[in-house]
Amino acid sequence: MTTMNVYDAVTTRRAVRGFTDQPIPQPALERVLSAAAWSPSGSNLQPWHTYVVTGAPLAELKKRVGERLAAEDSWDEPQYEMYPPELKSPYRERRSAFGTQRYGALGISREDVEARQRAAADNWACFGAPAALFCYIDRDMGRPQWSDVGMYLQTVMLLLRAEGLHSCTQMAWAKFHKTVAQVLSPPSELILFCGMSIGFEDPTIIHPRTGRAPLDETVSFVSG
Ligand SMILES: Cc1cc2nc3c(=O)[nH]c(=O)nc-3n(C[C@H](O)[C@H](O)[C@H](O)COP(=O)(O)O)c2cc1C
Repeated sequence: MTTMNVYDAVTTRRAVRGFTDQPIPQPALERVLSAAAWSPSGSNLQPWHTYVVTGAPLAELKKRVGERLAAEDSWDEPQYEMYPPELKSPYRERRSAFGTQRYGALGISREDVEARQRAAADNWACFGAPAALFCYIDRDMGRPQWSDVGMYLQTVMLLLRAEGLHSCTQMAWAKFHKTVAQVLSPPSELILFCGMSIGFEDPTIIHPRTGRAPLDETVSFVSG
């Protein structure tokens, strides 16, 4: 483990979509998840339920989802809404800019739906990562608890940086939540929020840095 300045952890974390197959030492994963357990949550509910999957079960999961993709199986019925049905401004423009950047970097045009689908399918191969984390939440939980889970996941991602690891959080896994459940057998009251691929970055893959809105679009300093 290295120590890492918090600012460095925050600014070097990004959604990495290309990993080597170098295995992750189990103690590193245990350190990260033990420390991430200190994430805050309203009334200390700690509403996250985490599964870390490696080795044969992960290979099995990738295989099963791969078969569904090959069969052009439809996605599982959603357990939550990923985005509002009508994404308004400025979110719509931000999503579109993200899509242009992500697929542009892969040399895929906006019109090439098939190539976009192929690139999206890399999600379910964990972008080559040797480990995946699946984060569940009890279906009874409300928005504040979902926000707790978000804070927890960011804490996991930052701690991964301190271990020299990278990650990509993926709601894409929720589209195949039934297959994930077949492999993980979570209790029936849990719903799958997202997966997260974890591993060492493949340095041969070029990742453009995503941008952010200017500070005054998202932050208002109200001072006297
Ligand atoms: C909750 C959540 C779900 C996400 N789902 C996916 C996903 O399914 N596939 C993917 O490639 N990236 C996914 N991302 C990564 C985002 O696209 C990424 O965080 C965003 O574009 C900002 O880029 P950066 O993380 O590299 O700074 C997700 C991120 C979050 C926080």
